[in-house]
Amino acid sequence: GGGPLADRLARPLRDLRISVTDRCNFRCGYCMPKEVFGKSYPYLPHADLLSFEEIARLTRQFVALGVRKIRLTGGEPLLRKDIERLVEQLAALRTPEGEALDLTLTTNGALLRHKARLLRNAGLNRVTVSLDGLDDAVFRRMNDVDFPVAAVLDGIAAAREAGLGPVKVNMVVKRGVNDHEILPMARHFKDTGIALRFIEYMDVGSTNGWRMDEVLPSDEVLRRVGAELPLCPLAPAAPGETAARWAYADGGGEIGVISSVTHAFCGGCNRARLSTEGRLYLCLFASQGHDLRALLRGGADDATLAGAISGIWRQRADRYSELRGTPGLPAQRHVEMSYIGG
Ligand code: GTP
Ligand code: 5AD
Ligand code: SF4
Ligand code: SF4
Repeated sequence: GGGPLADRLARPLRDLRISVTDRCNFRCGYCMPKEVFGKSYPYLPHADLLSFEEIARLTRQFVALGVRKIRLTGGEPLLRKDIERLVEQLAALRTPEGEALDLTLTTNGALLRHKARLLRNAGLNRVTVSLDGLDDAVFRRMNDVDFPVAAVLDGIAAAREAGLGPVKVNMVVKRGVNDHEILPMARHFKDTGIALRFIEYMDVGSTNGWRMDEVLPSDEVLRRVGAELPLCPLAPAAPGETAARWAYADGGGEIGVISSVTHAFCGGCNRARLSTEGRLYLCLFASQGHDLRALLRGGADDATLAGAISGIWRQRADRYSELRGTPGLPAQRHVEMSYIGG
């Protein structure tokens, strides 16, 4: 009870990001560096993963509490066997007003050509594809498994052919590594209907060796793009959004910048994260989650599950990006992004 669900900073719960696997076929240095995620890395055993039925059952409780947007992530979500079966179950969920959810997925695109049609038929609305550059050598170096850029571009084409749109593309920018790809990427996706979003390299997890001097501030991204392709600011499409949106002045579409480091957006953060093994995390930078799987497998009924989730949300005060760098902030080990889901 106690009125509409809000956390201690008056933020509602709207967005649920679900990690369906902690594995990936790429080794992006900012996420799963090879030195750490090698042959002997202790990935979760299958029995520890939430089943699709367990995920759907938990998601139903989140929807009853206000969630309207579901994103499947990983690791690489398309590596989870029969992922389209989960999409099918989530696509069948309805809000209390009887509406469908915004159901989407973030992928590296490697398996999209094979999966796009299946995902669309299962009821997925759209996809976001991660792509850090167009230059094949740069891209192969960034994914660190020698994966060719042409195959990701083909995956994006497959998504559009299958009607999985509007497609978005995410580019993580690392100064001195791929920042020279900003303009080629902008030129490539302009006039295509694909929104390209530039993401500031973040200090997620504790294995990527993050350094502030490798962050290229979004203001600099906008300056570089705008100098060649004039931009005008757009109003937010939804409260609490990650990306600040800009339109090309000539009507060629839009881009976004996600500036977790230089312009934190915690104020409206309505996102919860469900880890691969069923822990609820209240922030991308949390060090601890709340074990919902234990409740599920302990036989809790729906009301108990929903009560637990709302109780956890009401206590939430996380705003890591706003506090980053505050003197005296205790140094805590953050969970890995491949486990919690970006
Ligand atoms: P759309 O609904 O398509 O706009 O997606 P989104 O921006 O909510 O999610 P997406 O998976 O595309 O994430 C884009 C980038 O923003 C990724 O690098 C995420 O890790 C990052 N991101 C998403 N949510 C948060 C958040 O709550 N906090 C921070 N710091 N970063 C986030
Ligand atoms: N900083 C910023 N973005 C990151 N992603 C993964 N690790 C990082 C990081 N350290 C991005 C991926 C993907 C999204 C889900 O998160 O590239 O686009
Ligand atoms: Fe895999 Fe995405 Fe992490 Fe790259 S950023 S290693 S593609 S999960
Ligand atoms: Fe939300 Fe945490 Fe990201 Fe801030 S840092 S926007 S609270 S997930």
